Amino acid sequence: MPYANYFGEQVNTIAMMEKLLDDPSSGIDKPAAAIVEVVQGEGGLNTASAEWMRKLENLCRKHGMLLIVDDIQAGCGRTGHFFSFEEMGIRPDIITLSKSLSGYGLPLAVVLMKKELDQWKAGEHNGTFRGNNHAFVTATASIEHFWRDDSFARSVRAKSRLLAERLNRIALRHGPHSLRVKGRGMMLGIACPDGEIAEEVCREAFRKGLIMETCGSNAEIVKCLCPLTITKEQLNKAMDILEESFAAVLNERVSTRSS
Ligand SMILES: Cc1ncc(COP(=O)(O)O)c(C=O)c1O
Repeated sequence: MPYANYFGEQVNTIAMMEKLLDDPSSGIDKPAAAIVEVVQGEGGLNTASAEWMRKLENLCRKHGMLLIVDDIQAGCGRTGHFFSFEEMGIRPDIITLSKSLSGYGLPLAVVLMKKELDQWKAGEHNGTFRGNNHAFVTATASIEHFWRDDSFARSVRAKSRLLAERLNRIALRHGPHSLRVKGRGMMLGIACPDGEIAEEVCREAFRKGLIMETCGSNAEIVKCLCPLTITKEQLNKAMDILEESFAAVLNERVSTRSS
């Protein structure tokens, strides 16, 4: 995936890593693993393409590094499949999951790993507070309930399309402000020109009864991370409020500038 560097130039990040790993004088020790979010949550809803993920996996295999996918924010159905990398044709060595895994807001995080990487003996990884019993029960129930067939995943994909449509409409409506829709699945947001606008939009939305958050290096992205169980009616209501909030903030800015 080409990324823009600080000078705005496109950088082929895989080629850059390859160069650093191949060059014995690069000063970079060979890492044990590469850890990656397929859709960056707090980092700004940047999405990795399937091609980039496959290239990263090849790079890891070539250099004897493990590929770790941090699916804490993008997993558990958030992108329309249980894992964010499904259909990308990769097989990570380790996957981390947390957040909505318990299905009930209870504390639960897991580290999945290939069998051959599991060095723990049975009962060896212990401690006073290992595992929240209630969370184990609710996580089992939610996995059995929501993932017994693909109807839940399909409903998430349908709502993702609605969310994308509504956010694109907002971005188009305020064309001159160069708003940009970013992300994937039910992990979408609108990148604003700066963090100040994003903050004002979130404040306005809060006044109207909608809690929004921001992400990105300058907190410039208004981020939608609504519950996967939200109904289309609730989602539309939330998007109406967001649309009004963007209009209130950006129209106000235009009228202040022209007065
Ligand atoms: C991608 C990602 N990884 C890790 C974490 C930390 O998760 P936890 O608080 O469950 O350790 C977060 C929390 O926001 C996250 O978004």
